[in-house]
Amino acid sequence: MKNLQQSENKKLQHLLSIKGLDKKIIEEIFNDADKFLEKKDIKLDGYTSLNGKTVCNLFFENSTRTQTTFEIAAKRLSANVINLDIATSSQSKGESILDLINNLIAMSVDIFVIRHSEPGIPELIAKNIKSNAHIINAGDGNREHPTQGLLDAFTIREFKKDFSSLKVAIVGDIEHSRVAKSEINILSTLGTKEIRVIGPKALMPSNINNLNVNVFHTMEEGLKDVDVIMMLRIQKERMSNKTVPSESEYFKSFGLNQERLKIANNDALVLHPGPINRGVEIESEVADGKQSAILNQVKYGIAIRMAVMVMMIRKK
Ligand code: CP
Repeated sequence: MKNLQQSENKKLQHLLSIKGLDKKIIEEIFNDADKFLEKKDIKLDGYTSLNGKTVCNLFFENSTRTQTTFEIAAKRLSANVINLDIATSSQSKGESILDLINNLIAMSVDIFVIRHSEPGIPELIAKNIKSNAHIINAGDGNREHPTQGLLDAFTIREFKKDFSSLKVAIVGDIEHSRVAKSEINILSTLGTKEIRVIGPKALMPSNINNLNVNVFHTMEEGLKDVDVIMMLRIQKERMSNKTVPSESEYFKSFGLNQERLKIANNDALVLHPGPINRGVEIESEVADGKQSAILNQVKYGIAIRMAVMVMMIRKK
């Protein structure tokens, strides 16, 4: 398959998935994000890389963190930002998604940030647009959420540095989570010592044994000696005809509480992409505790998204 993400001179054209993304590009994004974080007193007009450019947020699924941090990131780079309200757009009159995109391109949109419930929609758009506009996947169904994968790995790098010595556990609804897929892909590309997934059999993807992970079905076994614990939300909106345990049963078996946190290494880092369901996958004492970097993830998300957009717009 043609590499849609990178042009022939290896420039980042679109960001559709972590799978297939060069380690070099990931490291460049991290280095640029470091620079944006170092400037502590960022003002809204402090950077001009996207001056005269227009970024359009197209969220066909709800979002708090991703949409808002993309908007903040784009504004910090001096871009114009459009947040199209899909519910009141002409989509309800039967306009196709490609017609919608082409109309927005006619209005000179340079970067589209797209979230959709159907896997592959950002890729379909990237294949079909007839302009140099850039497409960023902000989450497509249960497939990938690449900027979340980037910001999660960046957060680990801030606290732990060396991936080659780390054991990382991803816990919960692996099958329906696009975050889990991007995390597995990026941790693998960065050479993580061991990637574990922990969860009920019913919430593991059928191809789990083909991925570069070790599978556990109890927290007691899976959390032993790990350095990072990435908790996930149960994605009830993506489940059909599945037997899902009740919230209390799930918490009893797979919830992260203080007692279970002690099974991991003493300085284990706790992450969660949000939104958190307190008392379902994580208890408040852990989510708000000293090992949690959950709000750091949100903050670093702005720097990562700035870095991605700057890299796309950069001439070479
Ligand atoms: N992590 C994440 O994607 O959060 P939102 O759904 O709020 O964007």
